[in-house]
Amino acid sequence: MSKPRRERRSVVAVEAVGPYVLLRIGRGGLEPGRPGQFFMLEAPGRVLPRPMSLCLAPAGELGFLLDPIGPGTRALAELEHGDSIHVFGPLGNGFHLDVERPLLVGGGIGVAPFPYLSEALEHPPVVLGFRTEWHAEAAVLVPQAEVVIDPMLVTEAMPLDRDVLACGPEPMLEAVRALCPDAQLAWEAPMACGYGACYGCVVEIDGELKRLCVEGPVLCSS
Ligand SMILES: Cc1cc2nc3c(=O)[nH]c(=O)nc-3n(C[C@H](O)[C@H](O)[C@H](O)COP(=O)(O)OP(=O)(O)OC[C@H]3O[C@@H](n4cnc5c(N)ncnc54)[C@H](O)[C@@H]3O)c2cc1C
Ligand code: FES
Repeated sequence: MSKPRRERRSVVAVEAVGPYVLLRIGRGGLEPGRPGQFFMLEAPGRVLPRPMSLCLAPAGELGFLLDPIGPGTRALAELEHGDSIHVFGPLGNGFHLDVERPLLVGGGIGVAPFPYLSEALEHPPVVLGFRTEWHAEAAVLVPQAEVVIDPMLVTEAMPLDRDVLACGPEPMLEAVRALCPDAQLAWEAPMACGYGACYGCVVEIDGELKRLCVEGPVLCSS
């Protein structure tokens, strides 16, 4: 298990990928951790950092794919080469990689952890769903991705004889779980600390309260 560290790191590049933004940061002494783990990124001008899954881990860098939906993610997306921010991680529990027939299933910004996960699993099949062709440009980051666009759903395109690892909006995760009860699902909740101290990320899953930052974000649903 990689030990989380907090470091001030410089921005190496900020690149548009469809409507999303790939933020590349110098790695320094931070370890990338396991795919599905996340980092807390300082959002300039905001009090609280924002949780982001690691998207890519090329030599010397950590890459994060951002959906600029609110003030924190927009502030991160507006960073420029040479700016620096505090980065803390890797945090939480990632995906288990000891699966025989992996299939990655993602929706929207849920594609974020898949480039790193795909590399770790030696490029398994992938089904990705997006709202528009523009959003689907992010599929270029994941080799072998089959893309479906709304109104078609990823659950209509996924084979059912696989070990599913999924990330996406809650209704998509619920639909995947209904088809594949053993799927590994990466859940989301607003997070303030990222390491179990604030109880801000408590969610009820199957009648049990869980601090998603320490018990998740990846949970096996069965
Ligand atoms: C473990 C984890 C990994 C994540 N990885 C990524 C990633 O790789 N890329 C990415 O773009 N985003 C990711 N997110 C989501 C991201 O952290 C939030 O979208 C971000 O914190 C929103 O901040 P904001 O200030 O931009 O918007 P806010 O104003 O805080 O939120 C905008 C809207 O989204 C809702 N919201 C905010 N955070 C969440 C959340 N976590 N879950 C559900 N609804 C939320 C708010 O209620 C509000 O309606 C991840 C979240 C978690 C928990
Ligand atoms: S984010 Fe603080 S306990 Fe989970």
